[in-house]
Amino acid sequence: MKINGTPYRSVWLDEHDRWSVHIIDQTRLPWSVDILRLTHVREVAHAIRSMQVRGAPLIGAVAAYGLALGIHADSSTEAMERDAATLGATRPTAVNLRWALERMLTVLRNTRAADRERVAYAEARAIADEDAQQNEAIGIHGLPLIADVATRNPGRAVNILTHCNAGWLATVDWGTALSPIYKAHEAGHDVHVWVDETRPRNQGAALTAFELGKHGVKHTVIADNAGGHLMQHGQVDLVIVGADRVTRTGDAANKIGTYLKALAAHDNGVPFHVALPSSTIDWSIADGVRDIPIEERAAAEVTTVTGRAMDGGIATVRVTPSDSPAANPAFDVTPHRLITGLITERGLCPATQAGLGGLFPEYGSTVSAGHANSPILENHLARL
Ligand code: MRU
Repeated sequence: MKINGTPYRSVWLDEHDRWSVHIIDQTRLPWSVDILRLTHVREVAHAIRSMQVRGAPLIGAVAAYGLALGIHADSSTEAMERDAATLGATRPTAVNLRWALERMLTVLRNTRAADRERVAYAEARAIADEDAQQNEAIGIHGLPLIADVATRNPGRAVNILTHCNAGWLATVDWGTALSPIYKAHEAGHDVHVWVDETRPRNQGAALTAFELGKHGVKHTVIADNAGGHLMQHGQVDLVIVGADRVTRTGDAANKIGTYLKALAAHDNGVPFHVALPSSTIDWSIADGVRDIPIEERAAAEVTTVTGRAMDGGIATVRVTPSDSPAANPAFDVTPHRLITGLITERGLCPATQAGLGGLFPEYGSTVSAGHANSPILENHLARL
């Protein structure tokens, strides 16, 4: 995707040395576009933990490159296993991190130490390329959901609400939830996005607004609590969010606050879709509320806010009394009964075990009979 006309991915290999890795420092957006060069697995672990890179698919791809960087320095099995453990411990909720590291280790454990560096960079590159391709496919499959609303409402914009940042900055390219929006924009549909600010870290206000703006997509940033009101007044046609981990039954963990949006959408008959590449599916678990580990982040993310001060500098200010404690669960789980449908690289499906199993039959042994489609998804599928 583009920033001021220049195409970017959110992670890429240095084109001169062919071994170090570049990322966009997302803690500096939207105020400045700072490119960081990572040369050591320690720097990669820091980048993921401190959220210089974030978003489930992106941290998987960056961790894969991190392992390659580690092997560049030391290709022994001992070092490789240690580095994988370090990278895997950085963030607990997004399953893409574990998925990418396991994929790398599966290949590398069967590779001689002398060949590991070449194989590791090739596999990391494959993970990154596949992520970009899968996310573009999500856009292609999700586009008809938006086109359908546009056709039924000529002369007005399609209003889509999204939470957090599930755009190209959260993936290698295209994004998940934002990919159908970019495809609809490209196809000439009039789309308008309600962007939840997404406290405490404001990924919506800082990142989603940034990338939509750079791409020329109409959007309005709203306080996290505004969505329910807008839905009650017919101002939201669709909700599309991303996910950090989806169980085989279709429960979806995403940024804290997503569940409340799903409840409001359900109460107002607004279709609520979750967009994800298959690397976000955790086939080993069925009950998301019980089994998905929820990251607890620093209280300081709640007690402070960072932004551009009136003098032009970047400032962090405290917004709570200095002696008030704060809690910071970073994700919540939306049960599948509240999800109208899933948008994957292989198409749309109901948020059920049968739905996911139908699209991904190679995981069939973990999938048994599921539930009926939700009426809203049936409606959508009938129109496509
Ligand atoms: O804490 P973050 O910013 O890494 O959380 C990101 C999200 O919750 C995204 O919605 C999710 O990873 C989907 S990414 C396409």
